[in-house]
Amino acid sequence: MINFAVIGCGLMGKEFASAVGRWLHLSGLNFKPRIIAVCDLNDDAMKWFTDNLDTIKYTTNDYQEILQDNEVDAVYCAVPHNLHKKFYVDIINAGKHLLGEKPFGIDQEANQEIMNAIQNNPDVLVRSSSEIPYYPGSYEVFHKVKSDDLGQIMEVEAGFWHSSDLNPEKPINWKRIQKTNGEYGCMGDLGLHVLHLPLRFGWDLKLLGASLSNIMKERPNQNGEMQECDTWDNAVLLCEGSSEGNSFPVTVSTKRIAPGHANTWFIKVYGTKGSIEYSTQNPKLLRVMEYEPGGKQVWKVEDVPHQSAYESITGGIFEFGFSDSILQMWAAFCEELIYGKENMSQPLYCATPEEAQKSHALFTDALNYYKSEVNS
Ligand SMILES: NC(=O)c1ccc[n+]([C@@H]2O[C@H](COP(=O)([O-])OP(=O)(O)OC[C@H]3O[C@@H](n4cnc5c(N)ncnc54)[C@H](O)[C@@H]3O)[C@@H](O)[C@H]2O)c1
Repeated sequence: MINFAVIGCGLMGKEFASAVGRWLHLSGLNFKPRIIAVCDLNDDAMKWFTDNLDTIKYTTNDYQEILQDNEVDAVYCAVPHNLHKKFYVDIINAGKHLLGEKPFGIDQEANQEIMNAIQNNPDVLVRSSSEIPYYPGSYEVFHKVKSDDLGQIMEVEAGFWHSSDLNPEKPINWKRIQKTNGEYGCMGDLGLHVLHLPLRFGWDLKLLGASLSNIMKERPNQNGEMQECDTWDNAVLLCEGSSEGNSFPVTVSTKRIAPGHANTWFIKVYGTKGSIEYSTQNPKLLRVMEYEPGGKQVWKVEDVPHQSAYESITGGIFEFGFSDSILQMWAAFCEELIYGKENMSQPLYCATPEEAQKSHALFTDALNYYKSEVNS
């Protein structure tokens, strides 16, 4: 049993609690998380937890109380980006294992402080949440690219697209204000999700150019008054990827306004011997091409079975969804915590702080590029 505390009981805090509640869904695991404490400034948010989970010993408005609790082994922290630095550094220095949320610091400076704390506490496991690679289709892409079956990589497109911000009447929240979300805007919100697999493949990504758009410059606040909305809505980054001496274009797009798209994450990898495409827009569908010199170029289309990183009770024919990916990611975090990275039963461990750090370097380059080359 791993004793967790949740700090930040909003949208994502609740997703984690739901995954713990569904642990019986996974088969054959000999470890299990249990939430024993929750922290939020909002008492109503914590009430949802105490109403639904009978393992919670106490609630608190002060996260320091949790850090002093010897019974807490690990923390899931899902708070606004302006709080990441202080909260994550304190959690790590208290010796608690941490699954934090991206982007792991509001900016590069904050991220560096988190990295320093990690370096000073080598026995603490720190990982970043990034669940989409646990969809069965993404997991297939992970295996296919890792296996070198695709030959020389020629081009990659990856993105994460949302669309609810197309509605100008959508009220502003902390994610749409630089002070709390950060100057990265949509890149900080969506970017690590897109970069997780490309970075895991060991590709170096160098920024060539970036287009950043602030489409909705103001939004109504809770009182209906218009307020400045100063974050980037959409960002398209053109990068030069390199792997084993070859280089290739990598397009990374993060969009809050991609008309019609609701949580569409996709990756397309094109190689000389094979290519693969996957998108959560049609979560069962995987497109693969295997190519022999002189042979036909035929895409094969498969409805991928339910199988992800860990076995579950769900039959292979049934669909996989967002909450399943969260559950799988949690199992990966817990397994790594108990057995260590080298002894995990499957190879896809959660996004690392080093991967988050590389995403910060890319987003910072994109901001600088835009300031100097486009908006000077
Ligand atoms: N992995 C994903 O798919 C995903 C999706 C959405 C958000 N996120 C990330 O999760 C994090 C949280 O986002 P969210 O959507 O859950 O936000 P949210 O606004 O729904 O929840 C944040 C919670 O933090 C609480 N909080 C604020 N200040 C606090 C403090 N001082 N002490 C304790 N609690 C405090 C708020 O009251 C709120 O309940 C962010 O880093 C965000 O980027 C990840």
